[in-house]
Amino acid sequence: MDFSYVPSLEKRKKADLIIIPFWKTQKGPQRAADVGRLKSEVFLPIDAGDFKGDMGKTALVYLHGRKEKRAILLGLGEKNKVTVETFRRAFAEAVKVCHAKKVTKINVLIPICDKCDQNEIARGVGEGMLLINYSFEDLKGDTDGDDLKVLVEKVYFIGVGKRFVAIVKKAEQISKGVFVARNLVNGNADDVTPEYLARIAYDCSKTLPAVTTRILKKKDIEKEGMGLLLAVSRGSMNDPSFIMMNYDGAPDKKERVVVIGKGVTFDSGGLNLKPTGHLKMMKTDMAGAATVIGIIIAAAHCGLKANICGVIPAAENGIDAKSYKTGDVYRSYSGKMVEVINTDAEGRLLLADALAYSCKKLAPSYIIDLATLTGAMLVSLGDEVVGYMSNDDELSKQIDASGASTFERVWRLPLYEEFKEPLQSDIADIKNVSGRQPSSIAAAIFLQEFVGEGIPWAHFDIAGTAYFEKEKRYLPKYGSGWGVRLVIDLLERL
Ligand code: BES
Ligand code: ZN
Ligand code: ZN
Repeated sequence: MDFSYVPSLEKRKKADLIIIPFWKTQKGPQRAADVGRLKSEVFLPIDAGDFKGDMGKTALVYLHGRKEKRAILLGLGEKNKVTVETFRRAFAEAVKVCHAKKVTKINVLIPICDKCDQNEIARGVGEGMLLINYSFEDLKGDTDGDDLKVLVEKVYFIGVGKRFVAIVKKAEQISKGVFVARNLVNGNADDVTPEYLARIAYDCSKTLPAVTTRILKKKDIEKEGMGLLLAVSRGSMNDPSFIMMNYDGAPDKKERVVVIGKGVTFDSGGLNLKPTGHLKMMKTDMAGAATVIGIIIAAAHCGLKANICGVIPAAENGIDAKSYKTGDVYRSYSGKMVEVINTDAEGRLLLADALAYSCKKLAPSYIIDLATLTGAMLVSLGDEVVGYMSNDDELSKQIDASGASTFERVWRLPLYEEFKEPLQSDIADIKNVSGRQPSSIAAAIFLQEFVGEGIPWAHFDIAGTAYFEKEKRYLPKYGSGWGVRLVIDLLERL
């Protein structure tokens, strides 16, 4: 999207459509911005009782002899209930109408609100419009143009200045990372292989300033002794890769945040083969990796003042004569011997090697990991909130603040000592799965064994939010890119 501003309604340019916001009041809808000479036709749906200003509700009006052919009346709901999220949701609804009408150039009247900071309005309006203005049509065949989604390209904000546009432009830089993450999740598992993820990461280092990429191929992974990553990948034609993306945005600071993403490009379950329904969407099991790539891209585009190291252990969990086996014990990078009880609990295995490697080699000030780790997460918390677990209360406070600010909401789950005992193995050092236990927490307890002493760490289990069966609010159907916005916000706080 290309954004610019005009100070007043009179000075606006020609466009396909104008968005006009309204508050809901007891006396009916009230204009949230000056509508000048537009008044007469704009009020028709209101006079007819068809538009009441409810949050996210819209009415389409055709105009005559104006700079636009159409207007969208957009409800913001009650003024005293307004938050940043109100603007995200409402303006996303207006953009959906633009998509339905296939219009590309729009004027947007920005609400005037004494209850809300102008910068917050800019963020909400910008994020809502940007995040829904997305399509993924790479896998469609020769459709004629009519079937393809037409995105909004040009936006003029009316009644604001430079600062407003600057905030929206920052949101746009971040949304670039979100979109790359979504595209990777939506792509075919046969295309988005570990090697492909490595190539995308490498391409980033060619096109983005301050990004460098290092890739360990199978041979290097063997040399390093990442026995768990190797074990998981054994049942696939596609070799594993271990990807490191550095973004050095604060060269004068020594703090560095390592962000690790689970990169299982397809999770068949391995010899513990998944049943049909569970197997279907397992091409999305690299969503953590996609988020990490998205975070690096977003950080580089907005020139974030932080040092980040993105780490992606990538493998396909296939099924084959060469598959790794249940009951066998594998040597991890850390030296800990791991008894594999279930080959479908593969994510924690490759993350364990990545965590241990990062702690030993990358000198992290903090470690964050994101992974579609357990189906139990969807059962316990659903798809509105992500459960996270952390060994550090201070870090958790910041995470909670970022969750609230981005509306990528999170809920901390406990890591009590008592959860450790069931993971003890009789023949090795630790098992990858325990008996009847809270599955999401058990996975995190396993991971914690591979985090170095004293390093603040948080694990996000994004199994419930990485992918949506249907569109909701400003989030499209399928890959969501969940976590890019939250982690960027968090990095700014740390
Ligand atoms: N990738 C799955 C988790 C998952 C399930 C992600 C549904 C997204 C949607 C993970 O590797 C897995 O299979 N976990 C098992 C663990 C179990 C064997 C302890 C699970 O959750 O069933
Ligand atoms: Zn699995
Ligand atoms: Zn998995």
